[in-house]
Amino acid sequence: SENGYDLWLRYAKLTNDKKLAEYKKQITSFRIEGSSPTLSIASDELSRGLLGLFGSSITQNKNAGSKGNLIICGRIESPAIKQYLQNTSASTLGNEGYTIQTITKDKQKITLIAANEDIGVLYGVFHLLRLIQTEQPIHQLAVTEIPKIKLRVLNHWDNLDRTVERGYAGFSLWNWHKLPQYIDQRYLDYARANASIGINGTVLTNVNANANILTEDYLKKVEALANAFRPYGIKVYLTARFSAPIELGDLPTADPLDQRVQQWWNDKAKEIYQRIPDFGGFLVKANSEGQPGPQNYGRTHKDGANMLATAVEPYKGVVIWRAFVYDNNVPDDRAKQAYTEFKPLDGTFKENVLVQVKNGAIDFQPREPFHPLFGAMPKTPLMMEFQITQEYLGFSTHLVYLSTMFKECLEADTKTSDQMASVARIVDGTIDKHALTGIAGVANIGTDINWCGHPFAQANWYAFGRLAWNHTRSSEAIADEWIRMTFSNEEAVIKPVKEVMMASREITVNYMTPLGLHHLMGWSHHHGPAPWIKDKHRADWTSVYYHKADSLGIGFNRTATGSDAVSQYSKAVAAKFSSLKDCPEEFLLWFHHVPWDHQMKSGRTLWDELCHRYYEGVDSVKWMQENWQSLKGKVDKERFDEVTSLLALQYEEASIWRDACLLYFQTFSKKPIPSTLPSPK
Ligand code: GCU
Repeated sequence: SENGYDLWLRYAKLTNDKKLAEYKKQITSFRIEGSSPTLSIASDELSRGLLGLFGSSITQNKNAGSKGNLIICGRIESPAIKQYLQNTSASTLGNEGYTIQTITKDKQKITLIAANEDIGVLYGVFHLLRLIQTEQPIHQLAVTEIPKIKLRVLNHWDNLDRTVERGYAGFSLWNWHKLPQYIDQRYLDYARANASIGINGTVLTNVNANANILTEDYLKKVEALANAFRPYGIKVYLTARFSAPIELGDLPTADPLDQRVQQWWNDKAKEIYQRIPDFGGFLVKANSEGQPGPQNYGRTHKDGANMLATAVEPYKGVVIWRAFVYDNNVPDDRAKQAYTEFKPLDGTFKENVLVQVKNGAIDFQPREPFHPLFGAMPKTPLMMEFQITQEYLGFSTHLVYLSTMFKECLEADTKTSDQMASVARIVDGTIDKHALTGIAGVANIGTDINWCGHPFAQANWYAFGRLAWNHTRSSEAIADEWIRMTFSNEEAVIKPVKEVMMASREITVNYMTPLGLHHLMGWSHHHGPAPWIKDKHRADWTSVYYHKADSLGIGFNRTATGSDAVSQYSKAVAAKFSSLKDCPEEFLLWFHHVPWDHQMKSGRTLWDELCHRYYEGVDSVKWMQENWQSLKGKVDKERFDEVTSLLALQYEEASIWRDACLLYFQTFSKKPIPSTLPSPK
């Protein structure tokens, strides 16, 4: 059944007979040179993929002199591969890169998939299968692929009781109860899906960490998962609770400068690496939202990070230290705090420390300007943290393709260098010459049959992996291949689905938080609108803190006359955001408190524009529904019906967003809803 479990690896038989015949001519058998668990996976994948796509099995050819047109896969060093290889210097491919080349020899056509390491071969196999899945030509291939970012990691916010913080797709995949003995097939399917898009690391546990994961009993279970994932090129990481030496080690303190504490972490690291020699390292959330950290002892993030970095250093492990820090007791604008705390520490971290920065300075909002730390810490590798799970974007109910949001941030020019210093070029190490680079995505995966809850949420997992490998890929191209692999190669499917995906995020911004508004979500759950929330808990967890609506206008003044958060950006960027005239309207209310009558680029007043955006957002969900209906009979009924009902729910919730926000803001603007709005159909 088409229940979505197969993700983008469905390998449905190709329906284009002409193309199918061409592919079959091009590939009559395949051969794998060498043997290893990873190469067996590559071999199984080729058999399985080609069987599905061709509708008939192709043979694996074991002997070197085989005839016919075939695929040969293996390591570059293998003589059987080397003899064919053309113009690729192995040194450029690194540990994970690969090449795919078509070679014609004595009328025989050989499709060569070669890499320095077995994992590169597996990546190459997925690449070739993807070309066939998406009906691309394969008769004259000359592909060289090298990932632009080294650590491409999923962050699971999974708790040990299997609940998932901000998870909307069931429970945690990790069945701690049955581990280490029982290896669920699903672990392997998870690893395979990740390998198909080049993800090479997984943090198993929540950033709000439970120290128990570091006990021997749990480490045995982690070891079993690491063993299962290893052949797929995936390293395991854990979150480290900073107070673990107190909780597990009976120490009176977790002060990073205390020698007993250091010793405890050194011993713990040794214990972990004895079990898991390729353990990735620790991810740490410290002194944020009530989590313990070095500041509890008057120390800094640097002291904490470097203590852990020392512990994992002998084993080539890394420490990923999060910059998502803020504190209710700091009276300043929350958006400023990470920069204020971290910028002065640039250059003080050990070499195996990365600082992980969320894309924006508040918290995974539908739209945020890029985080001012990007470009501000040239001596420190900054790891990007995106959120794939839709905490602030309608959970797994709303269809929102996040690739366009990821790209908007990656492509933003920080103007912190003479060169073009986009966020992506800072993260990938180009600008500041870092070899250690990373990108993380907070996972949207759970025990739901289709992994992600919404069939289209799978596209966000997929897009994250594809961009982590190569951030220059376009969102459109990624959507195109995902649709082909997940639904169909028919133009009548691709076109409307792609249009919907490409527009979906802007639509969501419009019905949730247009024009730079942010954090209007209900307290704690973050699903529906509650722009009226105030005084209930801490100020920085309430909506009124962010929109600041009053009789004069609306928006957060972050210019020099306000919180001056804008000064954390480079001069050029700050000047643009500071100017009421030059500030892009999509960020207007992020940086400015603007009078209700302010004239917008459309010629409308701010109030009218706000109404317009909210109505347009809701109206556009109708448009998404209509587009989807055009696919009736063109995609399987199961997923068609599922998306149909989810879109209906999205429409309902979008309407609630519009009505709640506008009626509330109207109590300040005291202006009528204009009569010339896009009307809901
Ligand atoms: C958000 C989210 C929390 C999470 C935190 C983090 O605030 O709501 O659940 O723990 O981000 O990233 O640490």
